[in-house]
Amino acid sequence: MSTVEAPVKQRAQIKERTLRTDNWRKYPYVTFVIFTAWVAYATVRAMWGGSFYVPQYHYLTPFYSPCVNDACHAAIGAGKVGNAADFGTFLPKGMPFFIPYAALSLPFLLGFRLTCYYYRKAYYRSFWASPQACGVKEPHAKYTGETRFPLIGQNLHRYFWVIAGLISLVNTWDAINAFHGKDGGFGIGLGTLVLLANVILLWGYTLSCHSCRHVMGGRLKNFSKHPVRYWAWTQVSRLNERHGQFALITLGSLVVADFYVMLVSSGTISDLRFIN
Ligand code: FES
Repeated sequence: MSTVEAPVKQRAQIKERTLRTDNWRKYPYVTFVIFTAWVAYATVRAMWGGSFYVPQYHYLTPFYSPCVNDACHAAIGAGKVGNAADFGTFLPKGMPFFIPYAALSLPFLLGFRLTCYYYRKAYYRSFWASPQACGVKEPHAKYTGETRFPLIGQNLHRYFWVIAGLISLVNTWDAINAFHGKDGGFGIGLGTLVLLANVILLWGYTLSCHSCRHVMGGRLKNFSKHPVRYWAWTQVSRLNERHGQFALITLGSLVVADFYVMLVSSGTISDLRFIN
């Protein structure tokens, strides 16, 4: 019996790079500008080594959390000294500037975002033109996928997700700590709300992750026998539809939270207080 071979999938033999007539360049170019600006801002702030904590209200920017440098024990902000090291320190003072105070979390968060399915699409298109858009010929002669170094590292995403979940718990602790008043005890200021909103969005991003969805409902043959996992999978699936939005919004919320803490910590502005 003769066998029928599947047709070889290859690009249609046309000279044009694409037949698309819409503005397909907008997405990769805008993404390139946004990501470059964000990375520049985050790099400068993470290595700044100052204006990251407001002792009066216990505001700690997410870019310095958990604060594990000995300098965090005497974090200065708005003319006061406070302790930003809630989880202990293992880095001595006087480390080179390129070792951030949050050296325990930032490398994993970077790995988490770099291997995120949404970000992969975004930076493959905008930084590597691989491809720049659907239906657009890419400049690379061959594509080996994520089966060899370095892109095989993308498969670490599920492990980064676990660590990112733990770091989100730390951020949650920071947000709860920010309900702190000038005279001690309970208090709420604009900084409290900014840090709280940021952590809620971070949870939205972390829980809407594809790996989270798989952990909840993956490898099951029969949902009806696992009602709790089915319920959790359904909830995560709803969030997952908005994963790309969470990915972008949290870039903004992280910058807003950090920038606000920086302004208050440096004494440039005063925190707007609602209670105490
Ligand atoms: S797929 Fe984006 S964080 Fe997991």
